[in-house]
Amino acid sequence: MRILLTGHKGQLGRTLSPLLAEHDVLGVDLPEHDITDGESLRALAGSFSPELILHPAAMTDVDGCARNPELAYRINGMGTQNVALVAAALGAELLYVSTNEVFDGQATEPYHEWATRNPINAYGRSKLAGEWYVQNLLPRFYIVRTAWLYAPGGRNFPHRIIQLADERGSLKVVADEVGNPTYVVDLAHAIVALIKTHAYGIYHGVNAGIASRYDFAREVLRLSGREHIPVEPITLAQFQRASTPPAFAPLVNTAAAALGITFRPWQEALAEFLGKTGAAS
Ligand SMILES: NC(=O)c1ccc[n+]([C@@H]2O[C@H](COP(=O)([O-])OP(=O)(O)OC[C@H]3O[C@@H](n4cnc5c(N)ncnc54)[C@H](OP(=O)(O)O)[C@@H]3O)[C@@H](O)[C@H]2O)c1
Repeated sequence: MRILLTGHKGQLGRTLSPLLAEHDVLGVDLPEHDITDGESLRALAGSFSPELILHPAAMTDVDGCARNPELAYRINGMGTQNVALVAAALGAELLYVSTNEVFDGQATEPYHEWATRNPINAYGRSKLAGEWYVQNLLPRFYIVRTAWLYAPGGRNFPHRIIQLADERGSLKVVADEVGNPTYVVDLAHAIVALIKTHAYGIYHGVNAGIASRYDFAREVLRLSGREHIPVEPITLAQFQRASTPPAFAPLVNTAAAALGITFRPWQEALAEFLGKTGAAS
């Protein structure tokens, strides 16, 4: 199959690439290609004629999105509009990767695929705009929402916790933001399984179980032999940042599980990640 993969240099894109080795894959990423340039995207895709477009490319710096919501909307909203229009013109399927931040975080139970979307920050609003374009422009799409991704070599939470623990000897971590730590390798395998089903729709692709940032940090420290590092729980209100994350926005995987696509518990995935990256002692 011919697959166009946006954001192939990012955490998810570079994990997906080797899993698609049996396919003919064309990567689209900055600086060579920009999804906000609809005309050149159309020309590039037109000459390749993809049967499937995988679209993880995004502005993922949530605080940057809060500081520059127009840019966030241009990349995550209108960039996705460009990608969806290309898919529509070529009759290709599209898989769009979205986020738990399309929800407002006011729930008391993890969010199902059919829960009402109500983003509270610029990143979430821009990703919801992307979902809207995909749902309204295409008959054959998958939307896969994920959360709290980490990957080898990525700028991510586990690496930051280890770095700060080693630099400072103690940590303060938010205890009232709850989500699903998700190993990008598990998500990539689930996406590869999903695209074989042609069961179009909305999916939640996250490791099983939920955690606060505090729980996540404590597990990173435990698995990396740094359990002795003191961690003080703080509140979201005490942690100054540009973006306001939804407080309680874990996802639950119902739709993919019904197709037999399940995820292991986040603690197991994190243990494998820290073992492989050599961060655990
Ligand atoms: N990371 C998370 O915790 C998380 C959580 C929930 C959902 N998601 C979603 O999951 C997807 C994958 O996330 P990720 O962590 O793999 O992201 P990532 O590592 O930031 O990768 C995104 C890639 O897209 C590229 N990109 C940005 N703007 C572009 C443009 N205008 N044209 C072409 N390429 C562009 C980025 O290039 P630059 O690096 O040069 O900008 C980067 O290579 C995203 O759609 C994200 O919204 C992520």
